[in-house]
Amino acid sequence: MLVLGIETSCDETAAAIVRDGQEILSNVIYSQVKTHTPYGGVVPELASREHLQKIRPIVDQAFADAHLTLDAIDGIAATSGPGLIGSLLVGLTYAKALSFSTHKPLAAVNHIEGHIYSVSFEHPNVEFPALALVVSGGHTNLFWVESESDDFRNLKYKLVGRTRDDAAGEAYDKVAKLLGLGYPGGPIIDRLAKTGNRNAFRFSIPKISDQSLDFSFSGIKTAVLQMVQKNEKLKEEPLRLDLCASFQESVVNMLWSTTLKAAQLHRPSSIMLSGGVAANSRLREAFAERCAEAGWKFYYPKPILTTDNAAMIAAAGTAKLMRGETAGIDVNADPNLRLA
Ligand code: KG4
Ligand code: ZN
Repeated sequence: MLVLGIETSCDETAAAIVRDGQEILSNVIYSQVKTHTPYGGVVPELASREHLQKIRPIVDQAFADAHLTLDAIDGIAATSGPGLIGSLLVGLTYAKALSFSTHKPLAAVNHIEGHIYSVSFEHPNVEFPALALVVSGGHTNLFWVESESDDFRNLKYKLVGRTRDDAAGEAYDKVAKLLGLGYPGGPIIDRLAKTGNRNAFRFSIPKISDQSLDFSFSGIKTAVLQMVQKNEKLKEEPLRLDLCASFQESVVNMLWSTTLKAAQLHRPSSIMLSGGVAANSRLREAFAERCAEAGWKFYYPKPILTTDNAAMIAAAGTAKLMRGETAGIDVNADPNLRLA
């Protein structure tokens, strides 16, 4: 089954063609980062306008890279939420029009489910039940994932933990902004932290409650802000490098301690890490080491599939189309769509 995936939930216009949910024939990603950089974050109105300009050339590019034409594909998958409403509407409406005019089935895909499927390309044999930590600019969610068929064809999700305030990626982006580092903050802090001392500064980790598997990242952002207000030198090298490394280490430890607690409680067969923040080198390294120590199987996607892309949407859409879960022409974008 050949599926065209389309993703426009935030500031990437992306299209991909995937065979059987597994083999990536093309994966085109146009990032709008240059447009939003002067504002230090995504400007929704500009994002939807740029998606409108780019959607057609990006989809055409996906077909050209795969050496295929529209008649070759068996179905279309597009993100229907969560995300920015104006952005979502561009990709979903384009997909609906393609589906309507070609009579090819359409799957409406949850962006967060897409992130979970990003793991499936390199690791189709993940052991279920699994704990899936999805960390991105808009979400920090911990899911209990079960599979009837012991593969990615039919997954069931239960939300076991989520952020009470900021998403992990949002904390990275806000801290980068207040340190004058630019947008998006995650990759910049990741790079600078490599040369900083991760034990230079300590942040108290918020305690929500002993039973809860929820996260909170607004406290650490405020702590960094207050430190910088007291000492302007923290905005300059070399102290800034230490601050980046220490902030990052705290975020990694917060994500790990809750994942560890969830794993001890629920006893999954494996742990999956995905979403834009999963591109973080220290997060990958720390989770890999600590899961190995604990004897847990641990899976994450390669960097290009970690941040927003349409291959993951095609993969999740393929599973839906195979199950006959097609969307009608009346399907709507939902900025607050939930997975569980
Ligand atoms: O999944 P994604 O591309 O878009 C959303 O669904 O939100 O995630 C984007 C987020 C941004 O907050 C960005 O700063 C963060 O992922 N990010 C990183 C890294 N690369 C991207 N955070 C930490 N380290 C990275 N290397
Ligand atoms: Zn995402």
